[in-house]
Amino acid sequence: MIEVKNDIYWVGIKDWELRQFHGHELSTHRGSTYNAYLIKDEKVVLVDTVWDPYQEEFVDKLEKEVGIDNIDAIIINHSEPDHGGSLGYLMSKRPDIPIYCTKNGADAIRRQFHKDWNFNVVKTGDTLKTGKYELVFVEMQMIHWPDSMLTYVKGANLVLSNDAFGQHYSPASLFNDEIDTCELYQEAIKYYANILTPYSPLIKKKIEEIRALNLPIDMIAPSHGVIWRENPVQIIDKYYEWSQDYNEGTVVIIYDTMYNATKMMAEAIGEGLAKNGIKYKLYNNSVSDQSDVLTEIFKAKGVIIGSCTVNNTVLRSISALLDEIKGHRFKNKVGAAFGSYGWSGEAPKIISKSLEEAGLKILHEPLQIKYRPTEDELKMFVEMGDKFAKAMNA
Ligand code: FEO
Repeated sequence: MIEVKNDIYWVGIKDWELRQFHGHELSTHRGSTYNAYLIKDEKVVLVDTVWDPYQEEFVDKLEKEVGIDNIDAIIINHSEPDHGGSLGYLMSKRPDIPIYCTKNGADAIRRQFHKDWNFNVVKTGDTLKTGKYELVFVEMQMIHWPDSMLTYVKGANLVLSNDAFGQHYSPASLFNDEIDTCELYQEAIKYYANILTPYSPLIKKKIEEIRALNLPIDMIAPSHGVIWRENPVQIIDKYYEWSQDYNEGTVVIIYDTMYNATKMMAEAIGEGLAKNGIKYKLYNNSVSDQSDVLTEIFKAKGVIIGSCTVNNTVLRSISALLDEIKGHRFKNKVGAAFGSYGWSGEAPKIISKSLEEAGLKILHEPLQIKYRPTEDELKMFVEMGDKFAKAMNA
């Protein structure tokens, strides 16, 4: 156990070796943690559990540190298995423990475990006195599940925020003032970009609601990664910025290619962007980490996507990416499409249409060249980058 505040302990699990999360959807280059917290006040309250592969280790730890028989209540801020997953094993030891969660939380837990435990449904503003501390619940519906909520520990000025403000990151220390800030922010923005982007309008509203409460905040302890102990409000400010159609004014060029013709075009477009002082990054999507690419899209203003045409459509890595872009509901971005073809040449048009349907403003008509571009033809792609940059800056 690690004491994070007087009589409040971290009782989570560090998963150093984790490299993929949400099945195989999300990369976790720096592992993750499943943070659960134990409040040892007059009442003993557990806030969240850990992912079920670690349930025995977790429950053994609780037994050793506090004794399962002594737990008076469990708060489940979010029932997704990485936080609620050990509940089944824990409750098999003490099925009578009251569980505090939202209405949607109770529904989700019933569906996950097929048990009807002692649920105490809470809403925003409801409280639970533990002794010197009082827990205040704040619903966070659709940030990022219907059941999500946060628990504020009044008296400790501590926000137990669950997924919000978290990172898939497992460093040696649990606290932000003891680790590499650059790495921390790389993981925090990747988490936001990949998991929270679609809910940005709700996040903006929720932050405004929380700010209006004027709660004193000394520490924000999420359910993944490090605890914001030094200047905790910095991550609330960042989330507020990220929730408002965020971009850094850069461009990301993402392509897939069979014989490098489309790659040559991508590089020529980059040349045209650079002439205008636009910073850009290039990704061959088929050999790039999809979660990293989505993070780059989140940070970019311009998204230029290329694919050669095969079987009248785009290459498969681009097809998957276009679906992801649609699902993430990115706002305030501009796009364009390009590619090489042999005979039919549908790919750039398909990409351009898909980007438009995803809400991007198209700044250049789809541009394609049959087979391999000549030096002169490559100049058309430099010009495309040039025009795109000028339109983006206009
Ligand atoms: Fe970390 Fe939504 O679970």
